[in-house]
Amino acid sequence: MTATAYQQAKESLTQTPKTWLITGVAGFIGSNLLETLLLLNQKVVGLDNFATGFQHNLDEVQSLVSPEQWTRFNFIEGDIRELAHCENACAGVDYVLHQAALGSVPRSIADPINTNDTNISGYLNMLVAARDAKVASFTYAASSSTYGDHPALPKVENAIGNPLSPYAVTKYINELYADVFSRTYGFKTIGLRYFNIFGKRQTPDGAYAAVIPKWTAAMIVGDEVFINGDGDTSRDFNFIENAVQANILAATANDEAKNEVYNVAVGGRTTLNTLFIALQESLAVNGVTYSQDPMYRDFREGDVRHSQADISKIQNVLGYAPQFDIILGIEKAMPWYVESLS
Ligand SMILES: NC(=O)c1ccc[n+]([C@@H]2O[C@H](COP(=O)([O-])OP(=O)(O)OC[C@H]3O[C@@H](n4cnc5c(N)ncnc54)[C@H](O)[C@@H]3O)[C@@H](O)[C@H]2O)c1
Repeated sequence: MTATAYQQAKESLTQTPKTWLITGVAGFIGSNLLETLLLLNQKVVGLDNFATGFQHNLDEVQSLVSPEQWTRFNFIEGDIRELAHCENACAGVDYVLHQAALGSVPRSIADPINTNDTNISGYLNMLVAARDAKVASFTYAASSSTYGDHPALPKVENAIGNPLSPYAVTKYINELYADVFSRTYGFKTIGLRYFNIFGKRQTPDGAYAAVIPKWTAAMIVGDEVFINGDGDTSRDFNFIENAVQANILAATANDEAKNEVYNVAVGGRTTLNTLFIALQESLAVNGVTYSQDPMYRDFREGDVRHSQADISKIQNVLGYAPQFDIILGIEKAMPWYVESLS
C-alpha cells in the first residue's frame, strides 16, 4: 500500500522536526493542532489571550503528551491585536497556523466592532509579523461563511456570493489580504475554508456555542434541544482530525500550492434533523438515553441555508484524504463529551 500524503508529511516532520506557531492555541481547533504536533515531537509556540479559549484545554493536552513533549511547548499569553505580541510569537518559527479569531455568526451580528478588530486587524498584524519573520509557511483559518448567498451546491472555491454576516465579511477580507500580500510582498499563504468542524474540546458553553457540542450537552443533562428553522438546514460537518490533517498538509505544501484557498470538509451534507438523530443514537451507545423531541424555533439571522463542499481541489493539490465521515467523527467524539459533561 502506498503511503498517503498525510503519512508522508508526518514521517518527514518526525525525522526533521520544525518549530510551529499556533495562534488561538487554547481554543478548540488550536488545542487539537497542538496535541497532534507535540505527539509528532515538534516544537510549538502558542499564542492566545483566552478570549474564547481555556487553560483547561491546554491542561488536557499536557495530560495526553509525554513530559518531554510538553517541554517543547512555549505558551505566550498575548493578543493578536498587538503587533508586538505577534512579532514576539513569530520569532524563529518555521510554520504558522493562524487560528485566533472571534468565531460565530451571531456574535459578529451582536458585536461587529470586536469581531472586526480581532479578525481583520489582528489577522493583518499576524500577516505582517510572519512576513517580517520570514516564516516558511503561513496557513490561516478561513471559513465556509465566505460562500454567503451563492446558491450553488456543492461549494467550489472560486464561486462565492455576498457575505451574510459581519463574521463572513471578516473571513473574506482575510482572503483578500492574503492575495494582496502575495502580489505586493511575494508572501504566499494558504487559506483553509473550514466547514463546521467538530470534536473534543469544542465548548458547549455560552450563547455562541456550535450546534454539535450544544445539543450533545443539552441531551446529556436532559435539557431541551432547539432547532433553528425547520430542521432541513444542512451542513458539511467535518471531524477535527480531518481539519488537523488539512493544516499539516497545507503548512508543508510546496510553493505552487500557495496563494490559494481550499475547502476543508468531507463533501457530505447532513440536515439538522438527521444530526439530532445521529447524536441521540451515539449517546445511547454511550449509555445516555435522550427521548425528548426537539423544539423548533425561528431561523437564525445570517445563517446560510445549505452548505456542502466540493473537496476535489484540496484532494488533488494537497493530497487531503478525510479519514472520518460525520458518523465516525461523532462516534469518536462522543465518549469525550459524555466523560467531560456528565
Ligand atoms: N469551528 C469551526 O467550525 C470553524 C468554522 C470555520 C472557521 N473557523 C475558524 O477557525 C478558527 C478556530 O476556531 P475554533 O472553533 O477553534 O474557535 P475557538 O473560539 O475555540 O478558538 C479561537 C481561539 O482564538 C483565541 N483568540 C481570540 N481572539 C484572540 C486575540 N485577540 N488574540 C489572541 N487569541 C485570540 C481564543 O481565545 C480562542 O482560544 C477561527 O479562526 C474560526 O473563525 C472555525
